[in-house]
Amino acid sequence: MIVEGGRRLKGEAEIGGSKNAVLPIMVAALLAKGASVVRGTPRLRDVTTMIKVLETLGVKASQDGSDLHIDPKGLKKYEAPYDLVKTMRASIYVMGPLLARLGKARVSMPGGCAIGQRPVDLHLKGFEALGAKIALKHGYIEATAKKLKGARIIFDKPSVGATANVMMAACLAQGTTTLHNPAQEPEIVDLAGFLKRMGARIHGEGSDCIEIIGVSSLQGCDYEVIPDRIEAATLLVAAAITGGSVSLRHGRLADLGIVAEKLREHGLDLVETGRGLKASMGKRRRPVHITTMPHPGFPTDMQAQWMALMALTPGTTVVTETIWENRFMHVSELDRMGADIKIQGNSAVVSGVKKLFGAPVMASDLRASAALVVAALAAKGSTEITRIYHLDRGYERLEDKLSALGARIRRVPE
Ligand code: EPU
Repeated sequence: MIVEGGRRLKGEAEIGGSKNAVLPIMVAALLAKGASVVRGTPRLRDVTTMIKVLETLGVKASQDGSDLHIDPKGLKKYEAPYDLVKTMRASIYVMGPLLARLGKARVSMPGGCAIGQRPVDLHLKGFEALGAKIALKHGYIEATAKKLKGARIIFDKPSVGATANVMMAACLAQGTTTLHNPAQEPEIVDLAGFLKRMGARIHGEGSDCIEIIGVSSLQGCDYEVIPDRIEAATLLVAAAITGGSVSLRHGRLADLGIVAEKLREHGLDLVETGRGLKASMGKRRRPVHITTMPHPGFPTDMQAQWMALMALTPGTTVVTETIWENRFMHVSELDRMGADIKIQGNSAVVSGVKKLFGAPVMASDLRASAALVVAALAAKGSTEITRIYHLDRGYERLEDKLSALGARIRRVPE
């Protein structure tokens, strides 16, 4: 990606459907006997990978524009192979629905990734509490259960993946399950919305206790996924760093939560209108510290982009990462562009500079790529970002949306 920096973003862009909501919803569709349609879905590499995962299970899945069609009638296989799981850890989501529908699941262990270790112990403890037997064999997790039974489950810490996985399995379990200390993210609330549309009985999603009353079967349904709050927040940060003013169709203030508050504290004027979000950057930029936390805390998926914004903000900002142990790979790349950021343990001390300068940089993961794009938009001169394919996992046509807002950005073959 080549970005010529220094242009204020101005105009309107549309926010697509949420990646982290649609991935579990695609898998949740397996819990029903009939077909489901999920609307407003983003065209992303992770969605295509999840379609492949569903196909290996015998399920028909296809994306037609922004509509996803999933027909689980042919569901008979119960294995998610290494080749797919290694490219996308969210493949682990198939465990819950497979256990509930077929009584068994065999999924490759996900292993670590660029942002750190990614254990799945909380998923497995949840399944065990529901009565499943778990065995680890030759790099695969094998789970079996004759009939899942509702249970009281207390998670050691809130996990988006474990909450989604166990919630899906519990929908068809016998009796009532309560999840204590679950993840409260909007994507979990959206998944619960989809499950309820299929006939599941769930209460308390979005709070610190979720109750799921098992039912004997679920039906396919028609559902629209929520807009992507991280895409919206990334575009707002891009507007802020370039001193611009933008309108984002379909953006929702409530889902942005603390990110909206931090942006306002920084100096962005942000309001919700009937069409979405409207934002314009004020004259003064203020440094705003953040610490990533499970929802409603500051999302780790915005940490890198926030750091890019603070790199050009006068004063000193402390950015602390508490979710992933290795999510500072963007720091050395931002420093190559002239930023002054020092890592101290799990914090980064960002001393704002007057200017960033275009440079060749390399993306290391999805959100790090977004941070480099954001920094490049405000840098003087041209930035060349390699390994930009990371971006396509979670941002749909980001360069087109930014170009529509007046950025000079283009993709060239590497
Ligand atoms: N954890 C455990 N044991 C588990 C599961 C998680 O110790 O069994 C720990 C993790 O190591 C981490 C914390 O709990 O320290 C939170 O992990 P969580 O399970 O919530 O993360 P995830 O479900 O694997 C999702 C998103 C990530 C996002 C995190 C945190 C999807 C597909 N992925 O991952 O999104 O960073 O929640 O909000 O929803 C991204 O979109 O760039 C991305 C990485």
